[in-house]
Amino acid sequence: MNKRRMPHGKSLPEELANAMRRLESLGIIYPEGYYDTIIQKYTHKTVPYPYIVMHIGDARIKRHFFYPDIFKKPGDFLDYGCGTGDAIRQLIRDGYPAERITGYDVNDASIRLGYDLFLDRDDMERRVVVSPAFPCLSEQYDIVYSGSVIHVIGDEREVAGYLGNAHRTLKPNGIFFGSTLGLPNEAPDRSNDGPPRLMRQQELAGSFAGTGFKKIRIVREERPELQHSGRNFCLFQFSAKKL
Ligand SMILES: C[S@@+](CC[C@H](N)C(=O)[O-])C[C@H]1O[C@@H](n2cnc3c(N)ncnc32)[C@H](O)[C@@H]1O
Repeated sequence: MNKRRMPHGKSLPEELANAMRRLESLGIIYPEGYYDTIIQKYTHKTVPYPYIVMHIGDARIKRHFFYPDIFKKPGDFLDYGCGTGDAIRQLIRDGYPAERITGYDVNDASIRLGYDLFLDRDDMERRVVVSPAFPCLSEQYDIVYSGSVIHVIGDEREVAGYLGNAHRTLKPNGIFFGSTLGLPNEAPDRSNDGPPRLMRQQELAGSFAGTGFKKIRIVREERPELQHSGRNFCLFQFSAKKL
């Protein structure tokens, strides 16, 4: 089963058009015929996470409970698994110092889509690192953000490695925050219909604690589209601290 499909009733070309409309409302001007170029270039074969297209230009990071706090004392910021780079652009639009932000991803499939839709490759390319191996030093960042990455990692050991890297690259008192799809408490069992790694709140908290994170906070974000999708998962927002 293809677990990285669009939600029922949505299509990739339609969602690409919606994304382009949202970006036009942010001031981006596309050349004549650009939509056709985009839908030829970006298909289910070249877009590994099609559902993130539905959020391009409407970055989910801004709805995170910890979002206002990061502006109080902006520090060195890593977007760990940055995808299209939407969170980075949102931060910069909201006034976060651009020179303190780095995006990192294991591959460049989504970031290339981001460049093509935002028409900002020259500006963004220098903020993003793409590498199969985690490239960051120990105690390099004050803040690490993880937007919808944990649930796409299927293997338990890889999740542990991911969380370990986040913890290691944070400076003391650094903050790890983000979101992941998970299983609600009332859900009977793991769903076969969802992404590979759906944890319950307790399990997620246990993974953070096992990595060494403290002051763990996990909040279930109400997302009507998930409730109405008939699927058995929910969205958790989290924050945790490295002491
Ligand atoms: C569902 S997308 C989310 C992208 C973006 N953070 C967002 O909120 O739209 C998941 C991203 O995580 C990246 N990813 C998966 N495993 C990773 C890992 N071990 N380290 C870093 N990035 C990873 C994928 O390449 C993909 O870009």
